[in-house]
Amino acid sequence: MKNRVILLLVFAVGIYFISTIYSNSNLKESNLPKSWKVNDEIINLKIDSLIKIMTLDEKIGQTVLLTSTRDVTGPSVNKNYERLIKEGKVGNIFNAYGAEFTKGLQKMAVENTRLGIPLLFGYDVIHGHKTIFPISLGESASFDLEAIEKSSRIAAIEASSEGLHWTFAPMIDIARDPRWGRVSEGSGEDVYYGCEVAKARIRGFQGSDLKNINTILACAKHYAAYGATQAGRDYHTVDLSDRELRTTYLPPFKAAVDQGVATFMTSFNELNGVPATGNKYLLKDILRNEWGFKGFVVTDYQSINEMVAHGIVENNKDAAELAINVGVDMDLQGEVYSKYLKELIEEGKVSEDQLNITVRRILELKYALGLFEDPYRYSNIERQEKNIMTEEHLEAARDIARKSMVLLKNNNNTMPLSKDTKIALIGSLANSERDMIGSWSGAGKHKDDPVTVLEGFIEKIGKENIFYAEGTKLNRYMRRTDASNKSGFNEAINAAKKADIIVAAMGELQSMSGEASCRTDLDLPGNQKELLVELKKLNKPIILILLNGRPLTLEWEDQEMDAILEAWFPGTMGGHAIADIVFGDAIPSGKLPVTFPRSLGQVPIYYNMKNTGRPIDPNEKVNPYKSMYLDNPNSPLYPFGYGLSYTTFQYSNLVLSNDHITNTKEIRVSVNVKNTGEYDGEEVVQLYIKDLVGSVTRPVRELKGFQKVFIEKGKTKTVEFELTGEDLKFYDINMDYVAEPGDFKLFIGCNSNATLSSEFTYQ
Ligand code: NOJ
Repeated sequence: MKNRVILLLVFAVGIYFISTIYSNSNLKESNLPKSWKVNDEIINLKIDSLIKIMTLDEKIGQTVLLTSTRDVTGPSVNKNYERLIKEGKVGNIFNAYGAEFTKGLQKMAVENTRLGIPLLFGYDVIHGHKTIFPISLGESASFDLEAIEKSSRIAAIEASSEGLHWTFAPMIDIARDPRWGRVSEGSGEDVYYGCEVAKARIRGFQGSDLKNINTILACAKHYAAYGATQAGRDYHTVDLSDRELRTTYLPPFKAAVDQGVATFMTSFNELNGVPATGNKYLLKDILRNEWGFKGFVVTDYQSINEMVAHGIVENNKDAAELAINVGVDMDLQGEVYSKYLKELIEEGKVSEDQLNITVRRILELKYALGLFEDPYRYSNIERQEKNIMTEEHLEAARDIARKSMVLLKNNNNTMPLSKDTKIALIGSLANSERDMIGSWSGAGKHKDDPVTVLEGFIEKIGKENIFYAEGTKLNRYMRRTDASNKSGFNEAINAAKKADIIVAAMGELQSMSGEASCRTDLDLPGNQKELLVELKKLNKPIILILLNGRPLTLEWEDQEMDAILEAWFPGTMGGHAIADIVFGDAIPSGKLPVTFPRSLGQVPIYYNMKNTGRPIDPNEKVNPYKSMYLDNPNSPLYPFGYGLSYTTFQYSNLVLSNDHITNTKEIRVSVNVKNTGEYDGEEVVQLYIKDLVGSVTRPVRELKGFQKVFIEKGKTKTVEFELTGEDLKFYDINMDYVAEPGDFKLFIGCNSNATLSSEFTYQ
């Protein structure tokens, strides 16, 4: 009875507030960005009134995100999540998908809780939902922003048809250490390119209006500097100067805010002594105050609790206090907001106003998605049946997989192969469905759907032309000593003896790249190389097809193989896409978004390094007092932006419209690119600049533009770029973001070693 009276009272108060809806509210800290295209005014009023009638417990429930048991992506699960939904103690669920499943959970929230606030469903839809596209690093190698946007669009269409509202993507951490397994999840080492890819993916996921049923919220992660982890070990310490943080690691996140990204995820790492999840500088000063981010911030998996292990707080309660007070809105699986926020508010350590701001940010997005109008609108079985793995989606996956492959070597035009070649297909990755789709493969099926290399080859040239043998076996936790099992070698050698040419599909298991998948060695794992050594003795041409998620050290392979194709983990249609390239039905056009070192000792290695005071002339082998190694050149094996084609391109006639840029006057740059080979093909034309003198030292080169162009054989295209003062800006000696007057060099070509150059000044 007593409870009912309280409930009635609460409603009465609520109705009073709704009637005073037009009164001024102090809750409107956030307003939806215009790009979200919702009716701010009305939503603001609705949210104000809703928050006014919510109890403290109901508000706290909105800050809680728990995993369902449908998928598990981290170290803990609360099996009572259904009960907690019904009790209004959890407002958001992840790792749940499927129209029926999500509808069932949604019903629990809507029908059992007092206010019926709908759940938000999130999931790691990273490179496809059911139709799996190449891993993000692979897609980035396409240098085709339209294709990347399309892949995210399709992922959003499929995910939203299975009840999802939110993806924990894009992952936009700049990564320059290939030991770090998560290199595979991002767009590589370059800041300019990283920003472009981040924006394309957000456009793809969020579409033009979140109200549309086929859009989902994007999440810029992991904020911030996660990729700068020491020694390439996951979750490890990050210590960076503010200049390096702002120059290299933050720009993609700023670009994400400018593109209207709805949510941010904090990273696991500490930054300069303060864990990212409790980092006021990152979350308040920069994200909210400097950049004006209006969406909500979620933690990574229990990263609030991990602040105890980091040693910045004594216990989970203090961790919750720190996180909410620096502006972390949602607790992913940490269960510390649910446990401690009420107490913290009662003790005056957290203000209810702060909680109101947090809840408002979350409710705004639930409104923007239309969940208050119809909580079940995303969980629609008919849409699910219609939209999953359609012909069109599969074709798009095949197309971008082809575009993402990078031809690293092709001696004497070994590829493309003619379709009547007898092939020995060797390697344990040649027929592994699971490894085709890579890590974070969403709801993609690990069996049946992914097309393997063997299947792709069979479809292309028939079974009778292929002799397949595994040769080696890989094991995720393989140590060097495990590499001695050669029991499969003979079978592989016998298969190779019957063939005209050997195709080796080798690289990494999908589980060797991604979260918690770091390596201290970048060679082909296990005894794959030993098998190649044996195969080489047969004196037949060998094509190495690489399936992997990070730069590898391939000096020996580069010398000994006839051709090398970097195929990454190419997704559901990977086997077909590889066969298309190998047999010439598609022409390779991918370029490396990361540098491939000669040896691990060169790491970190990236194209836009500083010159140093003692740079060594690249033509000089040894010069003891210069910046060099005794045992290797400084240069990488394959530079950033590198990739061959079956055809060749020649660059000429570099023309600048003017010899200077001012803050109101740009330069137009044009160059002729001729297809001088035997095939029609696509080229990624790249423009780099070098700022010769600055108030702080400047990199040897910086990418400032690229265009992927199709050129018919024998034809020439004029490719144009525009450079403005904005492109010349950097953090000067005072940490102001400015362009400094002075001389610049400009380079155009097919990779970051481009030699065709010109000069201009900034005045
Ligand atoms: C941990 C990962 O770091 C993050 O990327 C992912 O989104 C969450 N787990 C949720 O699965």
